[in-house]
Amino acid sequence: MNILAVESSCDETAVAIVRDGREVLTDCIASQVELHRIYGGVVPEIASRKHIEAIYGLAEQALEKTGLTRQDIDAVAVTYAPGLIGAVLVGVNFAKAAALALDKPLIPVHHIRGHIAANYIAYPELKPPFLCLVVSGGHTMIVDVRDYTKMEILGTSLDDAAGECFDKVARVLGMPYPGGAALDKAAQTGDDTKYSLPRSKPGANPYDMSFSGLKTAALNLIHHAQQVGEELDIPSLCASFSAAVSDTLVPRVVQAIKQTGRDKIAIAGGVAANSRIRKDLLEAVQKLDVQVYLPPLSLCGDNAAMIGAQGYYEYQAGNIADMHLNAYATKSVLGEALAESLQEIK
Ligand code: KG4
Ligand code: ZN
Repeated sequence: MNILAVESSCDETAVAIVRDGREVLTDCIASQVELHRIYGGVVPEIASRKHIEAIYGLAEQALEKTGLTRQDIDAVAVTYAPGLIGAVLVGVNFAKAAALALDKPLIPVHHIRGHIAANYIAYPELKPPFLCLVVSGGHTMIVDVRDYTKMEILGTSLDDAAGECFDKVARVLGMPYPGGAALDKAAQTGDDTKYSLPRSKPGANPYDMSFSGLKTAALNLIHHAQQVGEELDIPSLCASFSAAVSDTLVPRVVQAIKQTGRDKIAIAGGVAANSRIRKDLLEAVQKLDVQVYLPPLSLCGDNAAMIGAQGYYEYQAGNIADMHLNAYATKSVLGEALAESLQEIK
């Protein structure tokens, strides 16, 4: 089954063609990062306009690159939530038009489920159940992936997402947007014990997390140094900050593995590219009898291949929309939320 997949939830316009959920025939991406960089973050209105300009050409490019014709496409999958609403709408409307014109099923895909599914592309042998640490610009959670379309959230950040904090701290340090990767690079030569930063334990659920205190502490430290004219050791600050984020995530993942007895742990989302988190996770689970799945960096960030991968399993589960499909800025990753969205259509 060839799925034409569309992703436009933030600042990457992407169209992919994925066969049977696992084989990526092509993944065409038009990144807007350079454009938003001058503003220090994504400007939603500009993002929507650029998606409109890029999306049709990318779909044409995807067909051209694979040598497939429109008749070879069996279904159209699209990120319908969550994301910048204007941006998501562009993808949803394009996908609706494509599905209507091709007379093929339209499959709504939750962006975070897509990130998790990036692991199916990287690891053809991976099948649920498994645990997944989701760390992106907007989400941080530990998910129990019980089946391809059935998941439970064990814990989540109660405030900021990890990626948001990486970006904010990087911005204040003068690094270009999105700062996560630059901060990670700077951290390589730093001493992670030089600056003391908090690791918070919010609420009663041991899997819940909080990053806003860490973000504020790091920003205060930087601003204070600037005010008193103290020179900061930037690599060490980046290393200390990365360690604090990793220390918030990794022990919770270990606890979740022990408590659930799951023998597979995957990682997903843009922040899954972070070298410190990847290293710490590998080390922490070494003594446990678990298989670790770390997708390549190219599959961590936003792309449409992951939407095509998850789209295949949503289709198999009967999650198909019609021309009334809406876009949503926020929506839970859980199955009930998708069922609700499909119910709204009816
Ligand atoms: O998943 P993603 O591409 O978009 C969302 O769905 O949000 O994640 C983007 C986030 C940004 O915050 C970016 O700075 C962060 O992923 N990121 C990183 C690294 N590479 C990307 N954060 C830390 N270390 C990295 N190496
Ligand atoms: Zn994403």
